[in-house]
Parts: sequence; C-alpha cells; structure tokens
Amino acid sequence: MPAELLDGKAIARNIRDEVAAGVAKLAPRGIRPGLAVVLVGDDPASAVYVKAKGKACEEAGMHSVTIRLPVDTSQGELDRQIDSLNADPAIHGILVQMPLPRQIAADSVIRRIKPEKDVDGFHPVNVGKMLIGDSDGFVPCTPAGIQVMLQRSGVRTAGKECVVVGRSNIVGKPMVALMLQNAPDANCTVTVCHSATADMAEHTRRADILIAAAGKTGLIKRDMVKPGAVVIDVGISRVEDASSPSGYKLAGDVAFDEVREVASLITPVPGGVGPMTIAMLLSNTLRAAERGAW
Ligand code: GUN
Repeated sequence: MPAELLDGKAIARNIRDEVAAGVAKLAPRGIRPGLAVVLVGDDPASAVYVKAKGKACEEAGMHSVTIRLPVDTSQGELDRQIDSLNADPAIHGILVQMPLPRQIAADSVIRRIKPEKDVDGFHPVNVGKMLIGDSDGFVPCTPAGIQVMLQRSGVRTAGKECVVVGRSNIVGKPMVALMLQNAPDANCTVTVCHSATADMAEHTRRADILIAAAGKTGLIKRDMVKPGAVVIDVGISRVEDASSPSGYKLAGDVAFDEVREVASLITPVPGGVGPMTIAMLLSNTLRAAERGAW
C-alpha cells in the first residue's frame, strides 16, 4: 500500500489560525506583532518566499514590513538597516533572507540581529539554547516545523532511528539538535549524513524517520528507504516538465513516486515542509511580541 501523505499545508493552516488568535489576544493591550523581512538582491526564488512570508503575516493580523535592497548593498548599509530594526519598537522579529550576495558576510549579519528579535533562530545565542535544550530561545523555522508536523501527525519519535541527510546551518544541524533532545517529541537516535558520507544508503536504510535536506533533487531512492519509514522531504527545486504549462515542476530530494511505494508516511513537494516553515515563522514572531510585552 502506498504511503499516506503528511499534509503540511493542513497542519500549517491550523498553526496559522492559532497564531491569528494569539495576535487578536494581544490587541487590547495595544500590541501588534511586527515582522521585518529583508531581501538583498533579486534572486527569484527568494523573492517568492519573501512575498509569501509578508502575506502570511498580514493574514494573521500582524504588522509586516518588507525591505528590498539592491544586489550591490554594502555590509555597512545592511548593518545600519539591522540596527534601525533592532531599535524599532514596532518590530518584534527580523528575518534577513538567505542566501546573501557575495560581498556580505552572512555570519556577521546574523550576529548583528538582537537574539530577542532573531525569529529565524540563527543567532549563536539561539543556536546554543536549542542545543542545550533551553526552550527560552528561537528554533529555526524549518526544523521546528518538521518536529511539529511529526508531533501533530501522531508519529512516535522516542527510541526511533532518525537519519538526517544534509548538514546546513538552516536545516540539517538544527534538525539533529532537536531530534536528539531528551523530550517526548524527540528522543531519537540520530545519524547525520553529508557529502563526505561513504555509504549513505547503509545509514538511510536504518531510518524509522528519514529527513532529506541535501538540496539534491531525487537523491533518496526507493532502495535507500526502510519499509514503513516516515519520510520528510525538505528539498525544493525546479525541474523541466514538458507536460506542465509553465514548462517546469517542483521536485524534492526524494524520488517521490518510487519511495511512496515503501514508506508509511511521506511529505509531498510542494505542500509538505514549505508551509510549515512559514507557520513557524509566524509562531516565533508572536512569541517575540508576547515576550516584549512582559
Ligand atoms: N533561506 C532559505 N530558508 C531560509 C530561512 O528559513 N530563513 C532565512 N532567513 N533564509 C532562508
């Protein structure tokens, strides 16, 4: 029997409704959660994501600001923009869309954002809190969304083998940190595979929960997946498709059609992890505003 779909879109919808209710609750106190999204340059994929983030914010009743800067923006100009957002009381969350143009040092930008406004969870203070299991910080949106999606779909994680493919700072590394915590929605035995892993299939075949975040279309094939596994696909890229009016379709890191035959649960692309990332961004921004109100 083919795997059931893990419906990220539906779970994200529920979270967004919960966030909207939280936003409405703050209104009588004169607080409106505000998110600033900064986009440097004109990368088309980033522009699509940034637009979706702004729209989701407004739909939840939040204050949303999108700052678009030219591709040749200097480090100093971006720093000044961040300083101004750090000081703005109407802004509770700041997100600088990655990747950044070459002349800008991303790690320095991340460190410049106040940890209390770092709703991306990329600042070393928040990364450290996540690693030690301190729930006071912000957790990066994509891994947080995956954990919530597993939880709300009734997937048991404790004692299970979780294999993460990819070691990026945005997804792979924080995913590992989350799933190994001594907590009911984690407590996995975690393995991480990456570009230097000698025999990836040997590891992925042991996975009860397989999380593919390598950015390589179709990397995970049927023979790399244990029958009955839960498969989460973080990848999203355009591939040519003559049958589609646009000439392309979106595809993930998992060879969906063949892996669906062996997995028990699988996320689609699109409509799986992507909507959860946006929902968690809203959730983090609401938390930032609630905290500021204490
Ligand atoms: N680029 C791809 N994913 C993300 C994300 O979660 N946050 C930011 N800031 N940039 C990204």
